Amino acid sequence: MALVEDSVLGLIGSTPLVRLDRIHAGAGGVFAKAEFVQPGGSVKDRAALWIIRDAHASGRLVSGRSVVEMTSGNMGAGLAVVCNVLGHPLIATMSEGNSPARARMLEALGAEVVLVPQVEGTPGRVTGADIRAATERAIEIAQERGAFYVDQFNNPSCVRAHEESTAPEIWDALGGELDAFVAAVGTGGTFVGVSRFLKGKRPDIWCVAAEPEGAEVLAGKELRRPEHLLQGTGYGFVPPQWDASLADDFIAVSDEEAMSFRRLLAKKEGLHVGYSAAANVCAAVKLIESGRLGHSPRVATILCDSGLKY
Ligand SMILES: Cc1ncc(COP(=O)(O)O)c(C=O)c1O
Repeated sequence: MALVEDSVLGLIGSTPLVRLDRIHAGAGGVFAKAEFVQPGGSVKDRAALWIIRDAHASGRLVSGRSVVEMTSGNMGAGLAVVCNVLGHPLIATMSEGNSPARARMLEALGAEVVLVPQVEGTPGRVTGADIRAATERAIEIAQERGAFYVDQFNNPSCVRAHEESTAPEIWDALGGELDAFVAAVGTGGTFVGVSRFLKGKRPDIWCVAAEPEGAEVLAGKELRRPEHLLQGTGYGFVPPQWDASLADDFIAVSDEEAMSFRRLLAKKEGLHVGYSAAANVCAAVKLIESGRLGHSPRVATILCDSGLKY
């Protein structure tokens, strides 16, 4: 990253890793990538930038055209940052179940927010059905207004963003010395992109998906609890770009564990992060403590966003 960037787009990516020795004091280490330091406040800034750039490059998005997407908040914020700099109005459809702070953040960034009533979830707990309802509204708006529909769940730029930026950054920062990568899965962009790159470098790196307890569909279990606290992940369906060949294991994290790790991260490490970030760290610690990776494994994971909008 240069000392003076031409625009805020230069602040996307190149995030530091922080070693969480106060949470895991034993052998090995948890190395967490501080994705919350990006301008939109989350890991999704990368996918937003790649999607809009690729759409420009392919001619699908011409200057001044509106952009529309369904979001749980973070993709919307990333898109708002990118769209503002490149001059595209943004319409974000969002389930009413996402925290109101998310809608306020999007509006503060100048996006038009369309709230979609929940189908089955409760406030703070957004289900796959809620996501589908918000997605349908986004598709309708794209047709009504001739807007470019981002379609993050199916858009390959989402995966490429992490394969081409997040993963090489992790690899370089750790000098290739890592044994495992752990991440929760929303669209799967982060998990699939990072794991694909890392396994390309070293096939024996263990890639583990963190899932909400009761919504462990990637692990092949029945959906028992679609409502959980890990907003932005664990929607109770296998995302279209999921690549099962990359997942060596799955670790379930309960709401209580995520809450407890949020408190621990704040108190011990000074990191106030969201629930998926806390779940990632919880799963990384469980993986190390399981002993499956030997005595002192080095595990990389993602601090997806800050805790400020929950
Ligand atoms: C808070 C949070 N954590 C994790 C993720 C998962 O990221 P991905 O869509 O790359 O799987 C998201 C996605 O929106 C998110 O908002």
